[in-house]
Amino acid sequence: LPAVTFYDAVGGAATFRRLVDEFYAGVAVDPVLRPLYPEEDLGPAADRLRMFLEQYWGGPKTYSEQRGHPRLRMRHAPFRVGPRERDAWLARMRTAVDTLALPAEYESELWTYLERAAQFMVNSPD
Ligand code: HEM
Repeated sequence: LPAVTFYDAVGGAATFRRLVDEFYAGVAVDPVLRPLYPEEDLGPAADRLRMFLEQYWGGPKTYSEQRGHPRLRMRHAPFRVGPRERDAWLARMRTAVDTLALPAEYESELWTYLERAAQFMVNSPD
């Protein structure tokens, strides 16, 4: 039998869509994060984050088909990401994760990853 991925276990596409929609609704009104996004329309940025997370957790590989190797630290280099931006990103993501009401074990696995990934993206001091 095929292994059940984390992607499947937490509800697949619908779950990742909800997560990223909630997160970007927060970004849209966030005074620290919103100015970092170069485009008026946050939709394409939301699609990229959603496709990346789906791929990371064992879902479709659409991110790499469209964007190539993630190289996320390099792709964040044009943006100033200090502790302040990291904390704002994590606060919006925390709210989004909470709306999913996942079983505790999945939630903590997801959150541990997101905290580490956000730290990894820091490229400037405050
Ligand atoms: C792109 C900000 C952390 C995944 C971006 C962009 C900004 C940004 C401004 C460009 C928007 C666009 O795609 O048009 C931040 C800030 C972070 C952060 C302030 C705070 C730590 C993360 C983390 C992840 C992530 C932790 C993954 C878990 C992505 C992806 C893209 C992206 C996949 C699109 C890359 C591409 O294909 O071009 N981010 N980000 N970001 N970010 Fe972040």
